[in-house]
Amino acid sequence: MRNKQAGFATRAIHVGQEADPLTGAIGVPIYPTSTYLQEELGKHKGYEYSRVSNPTRTRLEENLASLEGGVGARVFASGMAAINALCAMYKSGDHVVCGNDLYGGVPRLFNQVLVNYGLEFTYVNTADVREVERAIRKNTRMVYIETPTNPLMTLTDIRAVADICRRKRVELVVDNTFMSPYFQKPLALGADMVVHSTTKFLNGHSDGLGGVIVCTRREQAEQFGFIQKAAGAIMSPFECWLVLRGVKTLAVRMEKHDHNGRIVADFLAGHKKVKKVFYPGLPSHPQHALAKRQMTGFGSMITFETGSLSNAKKLLKNLRVCSLGESLGGVETLISHPATMTHAALGEKGRKAIGITDGMVRISVGIEDVDDIVSDLDEALARM
Ligand SMILES: Cc1ncc(COP(=O)(O)O)c(C=O)c1O
Repeated sequence: MRNKQAGFATRAIHVGQEADPLTGAIGVPIYPTSTYLQEELGKHKGYEYSRVSNPTRTRLEENLASLEGGVGARVFASGMAAINALCAMYKSGDHVVCGNDLYGGVPRLFNQVLVNYGLEFTYVNTADVREVERAIRKNTRMVYIETPTNPLMTLTDIRAVADICRRKRVELVVDNTFMSPYFQKPLALGADMVVHSTTKFLNGHSDGLGGVIVCTRREQAEQFGFIQKAAGAIMSPFECWLVLRGVKTLAVRMEKHDHNGRIVADFLAGHKKVKKVFYPGLPSHPQHALAKRQMTGFGSMITFETGSLSNAKKLLKNLRVCSLGESLGGVETLISHPATMTHAALGEKGRKAIGITDGMVRISVGIEDVDDIVSDLDEALARM
């Protein structure tokens, strides 16, 4: 597409999604090939081996770079593979400052794998930007944040942290999985890179795994292209196609997720059996003003407190529309229990330290008829 400045929904449907020049096929073809014919030694059409590059992957990388407003993107086999690739650029003795309330798989990778390679990690409450500044040392290379966090829905002021990082010459990476580029654009607020688990809202249909790093500088994109080639945890052509197909409806899905999310959050906040609701769209959220400033919607991720593990169990057992499962961002409403699922790896002490309780339930509100989601929760809460 020539006009890369077109609106978000137009770019989602057209950038990298141009009709196939060979046949005119309106959908991007899936190229299930490991290698490419070379006419003679060193003479080829730009593709040599699919670990290095693949035409379906190139299309997706163009598309996601455009949606986040980056200069390039690299896609990986999963969100965790993308986050691992981020750290593969560092060497023993390098230090990373990160949020203390991240998706549980991230501290698992950092604390149980990457520390063995000599990387150092400090966890702070990034909602307090002074804590971020204090934690940065001479050997700090990256500040890594999620906003909103998973599952406590705490926000970090991206612009404020980006200013600190620029001053200290440290790269800021934002996991934008919960908001998607439709509601939040970290690069425009000063971040150096964005990561996503494309498994979630970008794909949107709970049918594939993937991750992406979106870069603001060409050399970063080249470095991560090198990591794709060297380490090989790339996204398959078929999964790339699933995300290309999914993002075509990202704008309308996000609108509906947000619409349903606000209604479900209001319902939960008004229910007598719900002790607390964590949703940035509620005026009671301590960072509601920041949410309105740095996001253009509130999304559909909500965490709420049922009071105890046995209450959470009863609630989850009695749901019919909401599906109990570990993930988020699909068209279907998914509900999960952070303490035993996404954040089990933190251990009881780790969860307690950041305020994740056994009674917490996290819901990724889907795009079903919202009345059905609310009645499902209402009936299950009545039996809790
Ligand atoms: C915010 C966030 N980042 C990263 C990941 C990891 O992504 P994946 O499961 O695709 O490896 C997840 C997974 O739940 C997540 O919720």
